[in-house]
Amino acid sequence: MKIVITGAGGQLGYDLNRVLRPVYEIVAWPRKQFDVSNEREVTEKLRQERPHVVVHAAAYTNVDKAEVDKENAYQVNAMGALHLAQVCEEIGAKLVYVSTDYVFDGRKGSAYTEADAPNPINIYGQSKLLGEKFVSMTCRKHYIVRTSWLYGSKGTNFVTKVIEKARSGGPLHIVDDQIGSPTYCLDLALFIRNLIETEHYGLYHASNQGECSRYEFAQQILQEAGLAQVSLLPVHTDAFPPLPAARPMYSAFLDHAITMNGLTPLRDWRSALHFFLQLDYFESVDLAKEKKV
Ligand SMILES: NC(=O)c1ccc[n+]([C@@H]2O[C@H](COP(=O)([O-])OP(=O)(O)OC[C@H]3O[C@@H](n4cnc5c(N)ncnc54)[C@H](OP(=O)(O)O)[C@@H]3O)[C@@H](O)[C@H]2O)c1
Repeated sequence: MKIVITGAGGQLGYDLNRVLRPVYEIVAWPRKQFDVSNEREVTEKLRQERPHVVVHAAAYTNVDKAEVDKENAYQVNAMGALHLAQVCEEIGAKLVYVSTDYVFDGRKGSAYTEADAPNPINIYGQSKLLGEKFVSMTCRKHYIVRTSWLYGSKGTNFVTKVIEKARSGGPLHIVDDQIGSPTYCLDLALFIRNLIETEHYGLYHASNQGECSRYEFAQQILQEAGLAQVSLLPVHTDAFPPLPAARPMYSAFLDHAITMNGLTPLRDWRSALHFFLQLDYFESVDLAKEKKV
C-alpha cells in the first residue's frame, strides 16, 4: 500500500512517518514540497503518485493568528481538504482528515461523542469544520479523525513547554478550568495505521482515554519528568489577559465510534504520558543534543 502523508514536517506528520514507514511505501511531503492550498500542485502530484491512502496531517494550526489571518486559515484547512478530497475520490484513494476538538464550543459540560453537534467558537475551529464537511461530501472513502491536545517528540507543545519552564526554575501558573483529553501523537499515528486497514469509514473521536485539566496535566508532566519539586500553582483562565481566539473550556472526548467498530482505543492519557516521557521525549532531546555537538 502506498501512502501520502501531508504536513510531514509537523508533530503528527513526524510520528505518522515513524509508524507507517516500516510497513508501507511512504511519500511524506512537508509543506515546501506539497502546499495543500495550491489546487494545481495537489492535483498534479496526487495524480502522478496515485497513492492508496492520503493521511492529511497538514493544517493551519496557529489558533490565535487565524483570527486575523482568516483567509489563509480557510485556504489551508477548508480548501486544502477539498483539493485533496477531490483527487482522492477521482483516483479511488482513502482519505484520512485529521480534525480537532475545537469544532465544539465546550459548553456541553461533559465529554463529547461523535453524535454531538459541533459549534466552533473560533476561526481555526470553523475552518477545520468546513474541511470536515468538504471531505465527507466529496470523497466516499473518508475517515474524519478528531483529536485533541496533541503532544509528541517533534516540535513545541504543552508538554515540552511545561518541562522547559520547570527546568528554568518555575514557578508555573497553569489553568485548572480548561478540561480536555491529552493525546500522544505516536498513539494517534498507531490508531490511524489500524484504521486505514479497515473499510470503517466515517467520523472518529481519537484521543488518549480519560480527561484532565491543564493543571492536572502539568502536575503529571512534572512528576513523570522528575521535576515535581518545581512550584506549580492552579489559576483560572480569567487571571490571564484574553487571547485573540476563544477556546472551548471543556472539550474532552468519548471514543464511541472506535469501540462500536471493534477498533482498539488509544490507551489512558497517563500511561501514554508515562511512555512518552520515559522512552521517547528525553531520548529525542538527547539525540538532538548529540547531533549538535
Ligand atoms: N496540536 C494540537 O493540539 C491539535 C489538536 C487537535 C487537532 N489537531 C490537528 O492535528 C493535525 C496535526 O497537527 P500538529 O499538531 O501536527 O500541527 P503542526 O505541528 O502545526 O503541523 C502542521 C503542519 O502542517 C504544515 N502546513 C501548514 N500549512 C500548510 C500548507 N498550506 N500545505 C501543506 N502543509 C502545511 C505546517 O508546516 P509549517 O510548519 O511550515 O507551517 C506543519 O508542518 C492538524 O490537522 C491539526 O488541526 C492538532
